[in-house]
Amino acid sequence: MKLKKTVVLPLVAATGLLFASPLALAQNFKMALGDAAGGTQWELGKTFAQLLQKKTAGKVKVDLFPNGQLGSEEDTINNAAMGLLDFSVLAVNNITPFSPTVGVLTLPYVIQSPEDARKLTQGTVGNELTQNTIRDAGVRIVGWAYSGFRVLTNSKKPVKTLADLKGLVVRVPKNEIMISTYKSWGVNPTPMAWSETFTALQQRVVHGQDNPYITISAMKFNEVQKYVTPIRYIFSLEPLVMSESVFKSQKPEVQKAILDAGREATAHSYKYLLATEDRIKKELVAKGMVITEPADGEKEWIAKATATVWPKYYQSIGGKQKLDNALKALGR
Ligand code: MLT
Repeated sequence: MKLKKTVVLPLVAATGLLFASPLALAQNFKMALGDAAGGTQWELGKTFAQLLQKKTAGKVKVDLFPNGQLGSEEDTINNAAMGLLDFSVLAVNNITPFSPTVGVLTLPYVIQSPEDARKLTQGTVGNELTQNTIRDAGVRIVGWAYSGFRVLTNSKKPVKTLADLKGLVVRVPKNEIMISTYKSWGVNPTPMAWSETFTALQQRVVHGQDNPYITISAMKFNEVQKYVTPIRYIFSLEPLVMSESVFKSQKPEVQKAILDAGREATAHSYKYLLATEDRIKKELVAKGMVITEPADGEKEWIAKATATVWPKYYQSIGGKQKLDNALKALGR
């Protein structure tokens, strides 16, 4: 007994050695990604998996399943909540239906720069939303992918003004705030799951959609979309979420490794966006996409969306104060 204690205790005390113990069983987690490999979701997921494996001395591995292989982004939230899936990386707008307070991040024109996105997700507002998401949706946000502003694309014509939107059938996620935003612009959009979007664009069931440049490239939307209008109504944030029940079932040292890996992968994602977005945008133009800036500095888009949509969602985000707190955190 005495001998056993002197051997085991030092192993437990040193985190690195604990994972190195031959008694520790290897674990394989599954991570779903809504996007194809190569985009910001993939970059975050891959970096997280590498970091976690390293921090646990190879004992914890994560296998990535891109392109909606494990179900639509909405399905992955349900599955993670039930403990049937370990991780998912998905657009925040597809979490909002399960945890409405997260909607503060999709209210149009709240986030005006990558720096705003970083401040909100990594500060008090982000911490509060993480707690709310555990409570409402049974998933824990452990990291964030920063994907850039969602630009509008379509296959029919250049769009500069709201009047140009007439006659376009635009796909939006099943997100009330985004649906209301398009309505404020005079368009009745078509809510559709992300996993169905490419085919719908290809078959021209819908003419347009919005997503960041890096996502458009990863999903090869340039093959079915020609015109781009770089509006800046939503900065796309794509959290890495973990099933809370799976998280709770982990040993404290594994939980710590998960949280640390998530934090470091988030920092990597921010740098990746800044280093990559412009190159991808140029590549899309070289492949034939045509960019038309919104007229008048996007003023009419901003005025209509903020006046109509913000007040409509005060209640679902937890009160006007929540928006005021976010704006205050951004110095506005
Ligand atoms: C959507 O448009 O549904 C999402 O933003 C897509 C994504 O996850 O990249």
